[in-house]
Amino acid sequence: MLLAIESSCDETSAAVLDNSLVLSNVISSQLFHSKHGGVIPELASRAHLLSISAVVREALETAKINENDIDAIAVTTEPGLIGSLLVGSNFAKGFALRLGVPIVPVHHIEGHLYSGCLEDSSVEFPFVALVVSGGHTSLFLVQSYREYEVLGSTRDDAAGEAFDKVAKLLGLGYPGGPLIDSLAKQGNPNAYIFPRSMLHDGTYNFSFSGLKTSVRYFLQKTFPNEIPYEILPDICASVQQAIVDVLVAKTIRSAIEFKVKTITIAGGVSANSRLRQDMNQKAIEHGIRMVAPRMTYCIDNAAMIGFLAEKKLAEYPQEYSKLDFKVRSAALRAKRT
Ligand code: KG4
Ligand code: ZN
Repeated sequence: MLLAIESSCDETSAAVLDNSLVLSNVISSQLFHSKHGGVIPELASRAHLLSISAVVREALETAKINENDIDAIAVTTEPGLIGSLLVGSNFAKGFALRLGVPIVPVHHIEGHLYSGCLEDSSVEFPFVALVVSGGHTSLFLVQSYREYEVLGSTRDDAAGEAFDKVAKLLGLGYPGGPLIDSLAKQGNPNAYIFPRSMLHDGTYNFSFSGLKTSVRYFLQKTFPNEIPYEILPDICASVQQAIVDVLVAKTIRSAIEFKVKTITIAGGVSANSRLRQDMNQKAIEHGIRMVAPRMTYCIDNAAMIGFLAEKKLAEYPQEYSKLDFKVRSAALRAKRT
């Protein structure tokens, strides 16, 4: 029985897993950040402090276990907001020390990376994984639970950041991704043509800051005073399509090059309906299977952290008795084997 804790950004989450079976996965989102137009780190860590005990308690209650049933604890230690990571990791360390159980530090992006396997044990290695969130956009070739390679990453803004920044330019709220997704459903994706940066550059890297700048100039020139509400769906659909086209094209090309049979998508942006639809369609055209976790496993959640921790613990049980690990805000290492 493993208790997992995730607090790297603005979700406080705790999950209980029993041999890959998720018994509970409680997620408390800090919605108050929306009025600031983005996550305020200091407020985020304070909110984690206020909610973490209740979230963990609810995870144990939902799983119908008490703390003495816990055999191990997992916690996200990197990358993320330092204050937020510290709340989760110190809570987890204290709990592990009191219960005398091992504690497994988990890399947040690695958690997303394997979330496609969480409910689908038929996913076979190697596979290509696209991790798209507010802070990260990377494409991975995944050989096993220990081995993967970064094929490419964003050179500037992450895809989620592009959604959020464009939403801000359009006067929509935060986070912008879900708002653009929903407005785009009534819009024409070919109404305006926005740049598809690095689409044909032969690499697996991405760049989304040019898109945001192009939308800004377009709005300044076309609607210098006010953006008419009726054209928002067309703008949203066109911007979304520009982002999705690049993500889909590069992911499919990498799957073909590395001859993999499966693509997984994960991270907050993988909740995007157009991305899911287009990626699935293109994958089918090439005889590839697309696996997308359900929404609660796409956004930041502790279940994905626990799932990977169980694999690590099974492989190296003696490695996880130490409490002296640190949290890190840094981005993903270029390659891990
Ligand atoms: O993975 P996540 O919950 O947090 C991290 O960044 O780690 O991702 C949040 C991001 C935000 O930028 C949000 O706008 C985006 O995911 N997002 C979406 C959708 N839902 C969330 N972007 C596009 N379409 C969506 N439906
Ligand atoms: Zn995330």
